[in-house]
Amino acid sequence: MASTVVVTGGNRGIGYAVCERLAGEGFTVLLVARDPERGARAAASIRGDVEVVAGDLTTIASVRRLADELRDRCPRVDVLIHNAGLWPSRRTLTGDGLEESFAVNHLAPFLLNRLLEDRLGRVVQVSAGLYVKGKAEVGRTAVGADFHQMRTYADTKLCNLLTVPLFAERWRASGITIDAVHPGVIRTGLGDRRGPMGWLLKLVKRKWATPEEGAEPVVRLAHDTGTGRYFNLSEEVPLEGPARDAELAGRVWEEAEALTSAG
Ligand SMILES: NC(=O)c1ccc[n+]([C@@H]2O[C@H](COP(=O)([O-])OP(=O)(O)OC[C@H]3O[C@@H](n4cnc5c(N)ncnc54)[C@H](OP(=O)(O)O)[C@@H]3O)[C@@H](O)[C@H]2O)c1
Repeated sequence: MASTVVVTGGNRGIGYAVCERLAGEGFTVLLVARDPERGARAAASIRGDVEVVAGDLTTIASVRRLADELRDRCPRVDVLIHNAGLWPSRRTLTGDGLEESFAVNHLAPFLLNRLLEDRLGRVVQVSAGLYVKGKAEVGRTAVGADFHQMRTYADTKLCNLLTVPLFAERWRASGITIDAVHPGVIRTGLGDRRGPMGWLLKLVKRKWATPEEGAEPVVRLAHDTGTGRYFNLSEEVPLEGPARDAELAGRVWEEAEALTSAG
């Protein structure tokens, strides 16, 4: 039987290129998209066994619905790729009262990991090298109290990355593995803005690598078996700065458990 891979945010950007590659390799790909029509259009343009799963990662309830759907459809998730992400230009609160990118970039992967852990084989977390610029302020980052249009993205990526070694430890006995990867600086819609800043960014992005190039290190890790590691593209590198703070990681974990009631 073909291995099953779940890719969040599979309808465009790096996630789409990952789906394309893994479908081409013979995986059964579950392409998660918050808009089922956009998901269906993306899936239709990929050769191979690709199924669309509607999944919005914004609220705790919608992540729980997605987990239920995945549980119904997959007795086993061989690889779960947390790829969906956003870089907001302004503070938006979700229905749970949480800052949107904190919810999507950090809490959603945390909760999906917890809700699917009885059937996971491997997890690949698409991270971002910008985590080094982030700071995780427990109680404040979650609600965007410290929102900054350049830094909040890094903060949420840092929160997320702090949990990766803890998941690796939690799962060591059960054999589930997890690694995180910075995919490169890639020409996608991430962080697109209106106005002069947006035009400038579009110009700069022309020189950036393609989504296919961004997919490369992610696909490579989908086949790997190590755990608890962080990769800059294909090179394993040690975590830096606040991502090495075990005490902070513990507090970020506890906060995520409390916010998702996944204790
Ligand atoms: N591009 C880079 O240079 C770069 C660098 C480092 C790390 N990354 C990471 O790479 C990953 C993919 O980013 P990308 O560059 O491919 O960005 P992208 O082209 O903007 O794609 C983002 C994907 O995430 C989905 N998404 C956003 N919010 C969602 C939500 N609430 N629920 C479900 N799906 C949601 C989007 O769905 P919609 O189409 O519905 O909006 C889209 O499919 C992200 O985790 C990002 O942080 C990217």
